[in-house]
Amino acid sequence: MPKKPTTKKTPPKRKPAPRKLKKDEVDKPSPKRKAKMIPLVKGFKDVIPQDMLLWEWVTFQAMEYARSYGYTQIVTPVVENTELFQRTVGKETDIVKKEMFDFETKGGEKVTLRPEGTAAVARAYVDHGMVNLPQPVKMWYLQPMFRYERPQAGRQRQHHQFGCEIIGNESASADAELIILAYYFYKSFGLDITVQVNSVGDVACRGAYITLLKEYYSAHKRELCENCQERLKKNPLRLLDCKEEGCAELAEHAPQIVDNLDDECKSHFVKVLEHLDDAEVVYALNNRIVRGLDYYTRTAFEFWTGEEEGGRMSSLGGGGRYDGLLEELGGREGTPGVGFGLGMERLVIALRKAKIDPPKYDIPDVFLAQIGTSAQKKAFRFFEDLREAGIVARGQFTKDALSPQLAMAGKLGVPFTLILGKKELMDKTIIIREMASGSQEVIDFKKVIPELKKRLKKFKEE
Ligand code: HAM
Repeated sequence: MPKKPTTKKTPPKRKPAPRKLKKDEVDKPSPKRKAKMIPLVKGFKDVIPQDMLLWEWVTFQAMEYARSYGYTQIVTPVVENTELFQRTVGKETDIVKKEMFDFETKGGEKVTLRPEGTAAVARAYVDHGMVNLPQPVKMWYLQPMFRYERPQAGRQRQHHQFGCEIIGNESASADAELIILAYYFYKSFGLDITVQVNSVGDVACRGAYITLLKEYYSAHKRELCENCQERLKKNPLRLLDCKEEGCAELAEHAPQIVDNLDDECKSHFVKVLEHLDDAEVVYALNNRIVRGLDYYTRTAFEFWTGEEEGGRMSSLGGGGRYDGLLEELGGREGTPGVGFGLGMERLVIALRKAKIDPPKYDIPDVFLAQIGTSAQKKAFRFFEDLREAGIVARGQFTKDALSPQLAMAGKLGVPFTLILGKKELMDKTIIIREMASGSQEVIDFKKVIPELKKRLKKFKEE
């Protein structure tokens, strides 16, 4: 029999042995390219945790003051139709002409990042039929605003305003309430504040005044800065608040609007001032406060800190009456409005400059320290039990060694620390440490809350 041909098995292919790395290749870690940092957009700023004590303080006080005077909060979208600001703030104002963050959406809508709060609140009032609510409607907000300005100290492209608006009341007491609220809000931080106050009249009497103003400035046209030459044609009232030296000097001798108010506007203004006197508000009459937005009528005001008076960055906040604005936005004819907007960044700068620190937080009752994974598991739930029992507790669950936790408890100034470790967990106990003396006691876990309450009561009475 012929032999079956044997099929010669080819050995399986072996993977080639990896190339032996040279010594310098082995030791060196593979070179990792460090990613380039992405910087912040120009004119924008973070508010980082280190700044938060001050920010929390100003935010809390804003909320407290607004609530105590009977305002309810409103939050409007960051983006609005561009026309809202063109129609209300005014086409010839710096805000609309130069400073708007406006763009077209993918759907072709022309929108703008809110440069100021009043127009948006007024739009919401009309939009939601708030005219049918008991009047006036008093709203407050603390929202970011966006203006494409040249960034400098106290001037950013995103800033935050605390604002209050009263819509649906034309009495002088509404204007006074807002000025008094803002004045005492600033005073609550210990700041030295003067209110700069003026009346810009209304459509009935402003026309005659503007004619006077144009006559005066036309005679001095050559002395005006380039911007003011333009203002003379398009927005003569703004001539009064130009900061250029020559223009400022001319403004000193310009006809004063308060001498040209009609009887109704004059009487309204006098009543506002009387309320300010009664409330012991420190104010100065200032005929150059005309504000940079077109919607103002009658009372206009700004809040200055004493030391910055006359300087370039003088205004911490401002506001005024805007009796034609609601109608302009399709609201009921003659709906009056008045309000203010206070710059939070400028307030924070003023507090830092005056070396005013936020008050220390209230000291918590207890720190809960946990050692090891199993103790941590128990501690999470127990932490909530403490809070539900009305005990102000603090913890740091990202740490499991005792000493950094005790250091944190010491920093917070708590009178007691509870310590939960593996042993305590097994024994169903917990350690209570009195921070001042360092003395520790092991107590039954079930009894810890009543025991802690007893000790806290005694501690607070001492
Ligand atoms: P405003 O005077 O244009 O008024 O702004 C109010 C405040 O916002 C200013 O006094 C200032 O503190 C702050 N602010 C304005 N622009 C900037 C910026 N670029 N950087 C930092 N802070 C800034 C209004 O916006 C009106 N809506 C106020 C109002 C409310 N009137 C009636 N109701």
